[in-house]
Amino acid sequence: MHLRETICDYLKGKGIETSPSSILIVSGGLQALQLISIGLLQRGSVIFHESPSYLNSIHVFQSAGMNLFGIPMDEEGIKYASIGRLKRQHNPALIYTIPSFHNPTGTLMSERRRKQLLEDCQKASLPIIEDDVYGDLWFEQPPPKPLKANDKQGSVLYIGSVSKTFSPGLRIGWIVGPEPVINRLADIKMQTDYGSSSISQFLVNKWLKNGYEEDLTLVRSELKCRRDYMIEILNTYFSNIATWNIPSGGFYIWLKITPSISTRKLFEKAIQEGILLNPGNIYDKDDHRHLRLSYSYATLDQIKKGLKRISELIIEMM
Ligand SMILES: Cc1ncc(COP(=O)(O)O)c(C=O)c1O
Repeated sequence: MHLRETICDYLKGKGIETSPSSILIVSGGLQALQLISIGLLQRGSVIFHESPSYLNSIHVFQSAGMNLFGIPMDEEGIKYASIGRLKRQHNPALIYTIPSFHNPTGTLMSERRRKQLLEDCQKASLPIIEDDVYGDLWFEQPPPKPLKANDKQGSVLYIGSVSKTFSPGLRIGWIVGPEPVINRLADIKMQTDYGSSSISQFLVNKWLKNGYEEDLTLVRSELKCRRDYMIEILNTYFSNIATWNIPSGGFYIWLKITPSISTRKLFEKAIQEGILLNPGNIYDKDDHRHLRLSYSYATLDQIKKGLKRISELIIEMM
């Protein structure tokens, strides 16, 4: 109960008004998705999502018999022509979106797009899963308010987690939604693992109450330095062979390789040299042009050596 109360206060800062009974503590964002797929969806359900998407890289939805339907993106986020028309054609059960610092493209959905998306989905009675695990990791200014902040109808299930900001090993996240939905998911959570570790919950509660703003200031500034460093390296080695976005938060740069080479072969060559790549087809099976670069974990030296070598491999393959 303590953690849920603390999360209510924390979410107020994002414009989300909720109560402890509308929150379920889960073992990370991934478990939130697992519980939703078991508890709210049926075999064969169609899920709309951004294309490319993190959802494609995890197997919970596919293994639960879901059909994933990707919608393209532009620099403002998911680019749907008409949710109403798409809904009539495909009859989706819900739409999954990562509005802030999207995995894998780093895209930040604009305020305008958020408003449109929420309005259109509500008009079409299409529930939304909003995955906001990167929302706190902005560099210059906070992202626009989450969709959940403007959700008066209870049609958004909001997912948060401390995995990207505090510690992935604690396995603590949360789902915010209408009470009946939360109660159903809580039943399944109970049957799955009897509840998340109370030591982890205790630590996250303490962190959110006492230190997260200070810690986040540090994490943001460190991440921004790493982003700047990676961009510098890309400018040095990739300016003739790739294009990329400059993310305003989160972990990822979505690198588009210009020459037509096989990213699969590039992956194989790189792994032989001890460099693990995340090619675009993990996030969209038809993508053969992109690499997802992450500046969050590797050291600056590894980033430099790895990227320099990748640029050489691409040039050799041209
Ligand atoms: C968009 C997104 N959602 C959820 C997760 C899973 O987070 P957690 O470690 O909290 O399960 C990830 C992890 O990469 C992610 O990128």
